[in-house]
Amino acid sequence: MRQAMFPRKARENVMARALRGIAPKRRLPHMAAPLIDPFQRPISYLRVSVTDRCDFRCVYCMSEHMNFLPKKELLTLEELDRLCSIFIGLGVQKLRITGGEPLVRRNIMSFFQAMSRHLDSGALEELTLTTNGSQLHRFATDLYSAGVRRVNVSLDTLDDTKFADITRWGRLPQVLKGIDAAQAAGLRVKINAVALKGFNDDELITITEWCADRDMDLTWIEVMPMGDIGNEDRLDQYWRLTDLRAKLGEHYTLTDLLERTGGPARYVRIEETQQKIGFITPLTHNFCESCNRVRLTCTGELFMCLGQEDNADLRAPLRAYPNDDSQVENAIRNAIALKPKGHDFDYSRQDVAGRMSRHMSHTGG
Ligand code: GTP
Ligand code: 5AD
Ligand code: SF4
Repeated sequence: MRQAMFPRKARENVMARALRGIAPKRRLPHMAAPLIDPFQRPISYLRVSVTDRCDFRCVYCMSEHMNFLPKKELLTLEELDRLCSIFIGLGVQKLRITGGEPLVRRNIMSFFQAMSRHLDSGALEELTLTTNGSQLHRFATDLYSAGVRRVNVSLDTLDDTKFADITRWGRLPQVLKGIDAAQAAGLRVKINAVALKGFNDDELITITEWCADRDMDLTWIEVMPMGDIGNEDRLDQYWRLTDLRAKLGEHYTLTDLLERTGGPARYVRIEETQQKIGFITPLTHNFCESCNRVRLTCTGELFMCLGQEDNADLRAPLRAYPNDDSQVENAIRNAIALKPKGHDFDYSRQDVAGRMSRHMSHTGG
């Protein structure tokens, strides 16, 4: 059984006191001051994009012809390990590995294996990933061995042709095989679907029932204006989750849940199936006030918000001070001190405001 180094309650107390501006009663052994941003939000969730590459080209995420980073720009797996470990030393308790597609990075299982030591020590509460599922059939068992217990799989349609259209390069049977393998390995699977008008609005009930039959949770995401994706028009694609929820409510009895996973989703339970459905609503309901996360890219940039350009270069101090983590810690604290209040995505004036030039694959969602 994985034992906590010091009790979770004690950590929470420290965080709660820090939030109210009160010094901790006593310093817990080996615990650095928690990362708190200028809006008094404790940062406990690190999302790490380990590659900008992907074997799909989802139309809302990438253009068909992408220029990917040269390998020499990337942090090595050893550098990623050092950086993630420093964050964990600063109070990060949830580590989500993303991409691009994280499972296409060479030798990525050795990184998961290495990170599992932080689960064993109790410093890390969750090691998890968001994947397109294409490589899950190869890695599901190894992920479970590394202590991963939950995976989020991006899947927007159950129709073979539509799937091939939206992912451009993806094939649905391969992803379904991956999901089977993940469940067989004991991983809990959550499906992430981007809500797209005129694309998957006709599949709301079929996707919901498919997830219920397979005992999988489902989260819908509002499409965000990330990256130049060619001619696709965000406003045409945009399907408000308030509308989606209302449509779901015509078929099922929905009960709001207070439960949180540490991510931005708000959940309801479908009483008929006892299934949990999540809603990620950057457009219709901004959740930035409870933001607890920052994003590290595969080149060592730290993005303090998905919807802002502010970022800090952690690769420079990491390489300049190979034996002095305190320099990297300082760079992290300085970056967190600049975390913006939130994103400026807004479609309410029949226009796309707050657009980001970088693609979602740069910061991993
Ligand atoms: P759980 O741990 O299962 O709650 O996952 P999660 O929602 O934290 O992670 P996941 O990778 O499944 O995130 C789903 C999507 O939510 C991301 O890809 C983003 O599109 C969106 N998202 C996550 N965090 C933020 C955020 O801080 N701001 C915005 N605007 N969107 C976010
Ligand atoms: N808006 C919302 N979600 C997006 N994703 C990718 N691009 C966008 C976008 N523009 C989702 C993917 C995946 C996660 C990493 O981000 O479908 O679930
Ligand atoms: Fe790849 Fe995910 Fe972007 Fe699709 S959304 S192209 S699977 S990184």
